[in-house]
Amino acid sequence: MTQDELKQAVARAARDYIAANVPAGSIIGVGTGSTANFFIDELAAIKDRVCATVASSEATRKRLEGHGIEVVDLNDVTAMPVYVDGADEITENLEMVKGGGGALTREKIVAAVAGKFICVCDQSKLVATLGKFPLPVEVIPMAQAYVAREIEKLGGQPKPRAGFTTDNGNIILDVHGLAIADPAGFETALNQIVGVVTNGLFACRGADLLLLATPDGVRQVAR
Ligand code: A5P
Repeated sequence: MTQDELKQAVARAARDYIAANVPAGSIIGVGTGSTANFFIDELAAIKDRVCATVASSEATRKRLEGHGIEVVDLNDVTAMPVYVDGADEITENLEMVKGGGGALTREKIVAAVAGKFICVCDQSKLVATLGKFPLPVEVIPMAQAYVAREIEKLGGQPKPRAGFTTDNGNIILDVHGLAIADPAGFETALNQIVGVVTNGLFACRGADLLLLATPDGVRQVAR
């Protein structure tokens, strides 16, 4: 199977999970990226069961609306049973690196509101140690140089993402050279640097369920 076929398979599995486990009329949080895009296309098939969605990026909002799926403002939502999103790396403990597409801040906010984070990945994303994929950090532009120096003190090699501005008007530093032994501790340490908006470690609040596509089928790993 190709990587896209694996992504399609896991997107279908997420759709089936929602159809079987999430009450009709619920609001669903939707992530960003190529796997999330396949999920959006599958969600369209059960859109009559879904009350509305919350989008984690402008790109996701446009794709959802393109399918005629309603998108609502997170501030108008009090309960959202699930958030479905991909990851750039994930461990068996369901800690993740996210933000390869640059939507990490809105992804983390929508995930925080959701009852359950369902991560949808193909098997290439499963790793023993996080950090080979450069860790995205969203930074207020005037703090870029200061934050970069502080990240170097923590052992990382930050590189500004060229020509990229987040949906929130900020820059991304991609941090190379990491092998993250304590994901929750490192997530917290990065958040203490003044000027950091969010970092792409999702460990303090990781996934609750991983749907992992393999050529032998979709494997479930629950927290
Ligand atoms: C977007 O900012 C990211 O967090 C994505 O969820 C993550 O990069 C996975 O994307 P793909 O499904 O395209 O690999």
